[in-house]
Amino acid sequence: MHVPRVFIETFGCQMNEYDTELVRAILKARGYGFTDSADTADVVLLNTCAIRENAHNKVYGHLGALKPLKEERGLVIGVLGCMAQNLKKDLLAGDSLIDVLVGPDSYRALPDLLERAAAGRKGLAVDLSEYETYADIVPDRIEGVTAWIAVMRGCDNFCTFCVVPYTRGRERSRDLMGIVREAEALAASGCKQVTLLGQNVNSYRDGSHDFADLLLAVADIQGIERVRFTSPHPKDFPDKLLEAVAGHPKVCKHIHLPLQAGSGRILQLMNRTYTRTEYLALVDRIRHRCPAIVLTTDVIAGFCSETDAEFAETYDLVRRVEYHSAYIFKYSERKNTIAARKFADDVPDAIKTERVARLVELQRGISLKKNRALIGQVVEVLVEGDGKRSDQWRGRTDGNIVTVFPKRGQAGSLSAEKLPVPLSDPIKPGSLIPVHITDATVTTLYAHPD
Ligand code: 5AD
Ligand code: SF4
Repeated sequence: MHVPRVFIETFGCQMNEYDTELVRAILKARGYGFTDSADTADVVLLNTCAIRENAHNKVYGHLGALKPLKEERGLVIGVLGCMAQNLKKDLLAGDSLIDVLVGPDSYRALPDLLERAAAGRKGLAVDLSEYETYADIVPDRIEGVTAWIAVMRGCDNFCTFCVVPYTRGRERSRDLMGIVREAEALAASGCKQVTLLGQNVNSYRDGSHDFADLLLAVADIQGIERVRFTSPHPKDFPDKLLEAVAGHPKVCKHIHLPLQAGSGRILQLMNRTYTRTEYLALVDRIRHRCPAIVLTTDVIAGFCSETDAEFAETYDLVRRVEYHSAYIFKYSERKNTIAARKFADDVPDAIKTERVARLVELQRGISLKKNRALIGQVVEVLVEGDGKRSDQWRGRTDGNIVTVFPKRGQAGSLSAEKLPVPLSDPIKPGSLIPVHITDATVTTLYAHPD
């Protein structure tokens, strides 16, 4: 019997990467196989992102490219994820190439919909759920030394620019023990680092347990060497959580702390629920308790009605905080959001572009300075795999900075010179080893094994 083969292409955030692993598990249980190219697939699924206009455009581009394959051999095409949720019937209309459309809370319906699609019937499942957490499904992960666990889904914050509360629905958390058991199973299979995921991860709650309890419970698992989390909201940072990050050696000293804007008025328009002063006080509190912390952020430039002076406040805050790195986005109006309904998207595109460029330039200088300050230091790196060159290892520091260093026994490496005979490299993916930083760029540290 022919096993239908599926090719899944994933766009967007880590939650989408994780959802692709869930979808693989759901399809595998129903007898589907997988392939790594649309050319050899019976079914192509695009797991989509709706967060900004360019994410949308990318998906349309890929859909267009699938048209000849569909015409030639009746490929079944599915659109999953946030864009499916957001556009609903639009994508099924008329001569649409799409056969199935499945939102983030409806992946269990996918196998049935694909079977119907193979028989020529289009279908969609885009209802949002208050309960679905897929807690009973073990994601079909690509085996490795790092893994993600989605601990909560959805978001209730309704930042006015953001489509997530509409595409992923209400906040709901998995139970703590189920997550701990999943992390224990991962540790038993050789995984060294778990990243706890959620749209608003620090609002996690299971009865009397909060996010700090969860973080510590996972960090205490034998075999798990590092725990990370993303993305937290600055509004949920009690001392207890800070203490968990600062005090537990296995919780990575890295906090991604989305700023979005540095002007009080814009923050209020965005419904971020903190002021500029409160955000800066939080940064101080974090750095005071944990001086080694690496801070990173997200910033949006050119939100509705943002003036030059208000943008200057964002620029000033980014310069003052000196994040290790930052994702800087041009504001992109999203259908149905509060901002799209209530405010005019009135900052001209050229000005948005210029503001983004100025922030990027500022941040690149800061990132380079911070990385260069690490030259000469010894830092611990978790080796994840080969670097771009196969004679190099690639890993990350505790602060999440990408670090590459030569494999032992490779021509030209320091360690090769030290070794009398080039022994087989004792380092492998999953090794946690000290390395000596010798050089740095904006994004990468270069090192030698210590
Ligand atoms: N336009 C631009 N950036 C956005 N983000 C979310 N919504 C938008 C939007 N409409 C950014 C925020 C968020 C990150 C994941 O994406 O900075 O933190
Ligand atoms: Fe979007 Fe705000 Fe929720 Fe983050 S916290 S997912 S930006 S609504």
